[in-house]
Amino acid sequence: MDRDALVTAAWLTRERAYAPYSGFAVGAALLAGDGRVFAGCNVENLSYGLTQCAERVAIATAIAAGCRDFLALAVVADTMEPISPCGACRQVMAEFKVPRVILANRHQRLEFSLEELLPRAMTGILDRPQ
Ligand code: THU
Repeated sequence: MDRDALVTAAWLTRERAYAPYSGFAVGAALLAGDGRVFAGCNVENLSYGLTQCAERVAIATAIAAGCRDFLALAVVADTMEPISPCGACRQVMAEFKVPRVILANRHQRLEFSLEELLPRAMTGILDRPQ
């Protein structure tokens, strides 16, 4: 699957965003090593803090389907500049080693490595001297 198709999948799923509080719809599509695509949209909640970002919904959906090997994640929103994932989502991308992240709006597409988005992720945690 090419980048265009992955970004298109993210736009399609963005249509399903549940965002009555922010009015800000986000779509994500995660490409697995076996070619499957897992999509997500943001799911908001009145308590605000329980809101789930599109990226984490896509990743959790893949994990629940038994998939843990990923190639790329596309995230889209109708913004002035390509959307930038929150820190929590970057940490979850690091947990599951999503290697490439594509960020897009209607006019522009950027691509980053996970290391660029979250330098030194996981380095040193639980890694104590013997
Ligand atoms: N949101 C995402 O789903 N992904 C991002 O990368 C940024 C923010 C959602 C969370 C909330 O529902 C709304 O966008 C406003 O922050």
